[in-house]
Amino acid sequence: MKEKALQYHEQFSGLTPEEILRKVLDWHSAKAVFSSSLGAEDQVITHMLMQIDKKASIFTLDTGRMFPETYELIEKTEARYDFRIKVFFPDYQAVEQMVQSRGINLFYHSIENRKLCCHIRKIEPLKRALKGNEVWITGLRREQSPTRQDLQYAEWDSANRIIKVNPLLDWTEQQVWDYIREKKIPYNTLHDKGFPSIGCQPCTRAVEPGEDVRAGRWWWENPDTKECGLHKR
Ligand code: ADX
Ligand code: SF4
Repeated sequence: MKEKALQYHEQFSGLTPEEILRKVLDWHSAKAVFSSSLGAEDQVITHMLMQIDKKASIFTLDTGRMFPETYELIEKTEARYDFRIKVFFPDYQAVEQMVQSRGINLFYHSIENRKLCCHIRKIEPLKRALKGNEVWITGLRREQSPTRQDLQYAEWDSANRIIKVNPLLDWTEQQVWDYIREKKIPYNTLHDKGFPSIGCQPCTRAVEPGEDVRAGRWWWENPDTKECGLHKR
């Protein structure tokens, strides 16, 4: 599988995101899944997948701390494409134990707490969501962060033992928004209020014009290290 990821990267270079998605679904059919956070990039990929195959498998990780606008968008997206997004929740006992011992807003108190919260609310459910699959499609783009500069179209994710495919990796933010407007794709209304990148409500804030797109995510942490661990490389 590791070699296949390398091979896919070469095969996918120069193809459009739609062409990449079509190939992934052709080759891996029911064993390819797309993780959507309902962000702008994810809405683009959902739209593309829905044009290719209505049965494409799309899931989201509901940490329990999402914005109301994100829940509204889940419903709007399901209505637009007439399908159901599969929602994965964290293990309730792990959440209860964490909150009991470290507090409801533990993530502001230390990086260790923040990572624990992300682990329990995102990483463990992600592992369940990916289980039994061969390909994990994401909306990652190189431009998003210093930690994402060397992304590949396809890469081997050793943490989850799966081929990860990033069809939009070289798209610019402008391309994402041109596509959304052209196809009239539903998007999170927070994007119009200064939120270019949206995660959990307590860990995301609006950015000023000209600020980095991820400046509002875990804004109290260093930009070189702030990743929740979903995309460990
Ligand atoms: S994060 O690691 O900082 O949270 P980001 O918000 O940039 O990630 O999203 C990058 C990609 O990670 C998304 O395109 C999506 O594939 C995946 N992702 C992030 N958050 C979630 C989520 N809550 N549910 C499903 N997929 C997610
Ligand atoms: Fe917890 Fe914040 Fe991570 Fe969400 S982003 S899982 S609230 S630490």
